[in-house]
Amino acid sequence: MAKTIALLIGSLRKDSMNRKFAKALEKLAGDRLKFQEISIDLPAFNQDQESDPPALVATLRTQVLAADGVLIVTPEYNRSIPGLVKNALDWGSRPYGKNVWANKPVATCGASGGAIGSALAQAHLRNVLAYLDMPTLLQPEVYLHFTKDLIDDAGNISKEDTQKFLGGFVDKYVAWVEKHA
Ligand code: FNR
Repeated sequence: MAKTIALLIGSLRKDSMNRKFAKALEKLAGDRLKFQEISIDLPAFNQDQESDPPALVATLRTQVLAADGVLIVTPEYNRSIPGLVKNALDWGSRPYGKNVWANKPVATCGASGGAIGSALAQAHLRNVLAYLDMPTLLQPEVYLHFTKDLIDDAGNISKEDTQKFLGGFVDKYVAWVEKHA
């Protein structure tokens, strides 16, 4: 049966390359994974509200708790994690002792127009995921240098070597989620 994956896309941009990237991963996973997007368009974290969070945050918590795994597909902002991704992780981690991310198998990946392909964002992200107690798939690292027409809106990948590499990543991620089920 398909595993349910809580998908965080680290960009709200309409034409986001990371959204196209996520679509391609969904296609490669086929019927092995069922992606459920988790909105990162949340209010700013406020510890005064952590015990009775806004409705959107309550939804995030319910969705993550029900998921078999988490996948984060994110751009890099100023050599780090986009604030909205960190904000979502912070909301899900509180109140103390009620961290919904704990023990959820996770993988990170990301795309940018530069050669660095979100590497530094993911390095910072992995640091946070370790503290959140999330078993993190470490290899392969996926830093996608996104070029025009590499992936279309439907998730079709135009380059065969990229398709093969990402297919291998998805295979490993599926096995990782199954191992931690
Ligand atoms: C960027 N971008 C960027 N790219 C990169 O490789 N390293 C970086 O540190 C940054 N920093 C950065 C900061 C901010 C505030 C913005 C808006 C952009 C460029 C970024 O990779 C590019 O805008 C991507 O298109 C963002 O991903 P989406 O929105 O297309 O998924």
